Amino acid sequence: MERPSVRSYSIRGSRITDAQRQAKTALQAIHGIEFKQELIDFKAIFPKSESIIMEIGFGMGEATAIIAKNHPNNGYIAVDVHPPGIGKLLARIVENDLTNLKVIEDDVHVVMQYMIPDQALDGIHLYFPDPWPKKKHNKRRIVNEGFLQLIHPKIKTGGFIHIATDWVPYAESIKEVFAGSTLFTGGVIDKPEWRPVTRFEGQGIDKDHAVNDMLFRKV
Ligand SMILES: C[S@@+](CC[C@H](N)C(=O)[O-])C[C@H]1O[C@@H](n2cnc3c(N)ncnc32)[C@H](O)[C@@H]1O
Repeated sequence: MERPSVRSYSIRGSRITDAQRQAKTALQAIHGIEFKQELIDFKAIFPKSESIIMEIGFGMGEATAIIAKNHPNNGYIAVDVHPPGIGKLLARIVENDLTNLKVIEDDVHVVMQYMIPDQALDGIHLYFPDPWPKKKHNKRRIVNEGFLQLIHPKIKTGGFIHIATDWVPYAESIKEVFAGSTLFTGGVIDKPEWRPVTRFEGQGIDKDHAVNDMLFRKV
């Protein structure tokens, strides 16, 4: 299996609470999808959903659960590698009685490659990806030319990726990566009203960081 040689996440800081561990143990088999080298049958998982949206890197999942609750006609598939957040989002699914949200615990690069059929996704949410601000770490940033090539076949023609970041140099780099590609078209947008402020975003706003929302569509 091809796992990326450079990781876009850090494996530090994964202290899990008892409640999060218990939620994982009890709920992952019900509301999670186990990583397999097998394509997901979205019609079977979300038979009534109008649109299928993947969220990459949901952190503690507060925004994820709100979005899924407010858009019951969409099916959401949320991917992260962070065990405390996996536990937390699984618990939120039960607390909010959500039937339109599934969680996958793995690196999105392998999830995309092995589990997502071509033309399956109406959209992707990528909110506050790790900014990797030090120059020597810039290569860890998830948005790069290879990422665009990975996600492009999985998105329906006309479908989108919505990205938000509070790190201006990363926003500039994201704009450059998309400008250098013929696969997508788009740019900066106003923050859509329906996008809740995420935990990571709140921390950035406290430090007076400017937030950029960007929307790119598959051509
Ligand atoms: C800075 S946090 C932002 C979390 C959340 N979206 C927010 O705004 O509060 C970035 C998240 O992306 C996840 N992440 C980074 N690289 C990933 C990858 N390759 N696959 C899945 N998740 C990833 C991290 O584990 C982390 O939870």
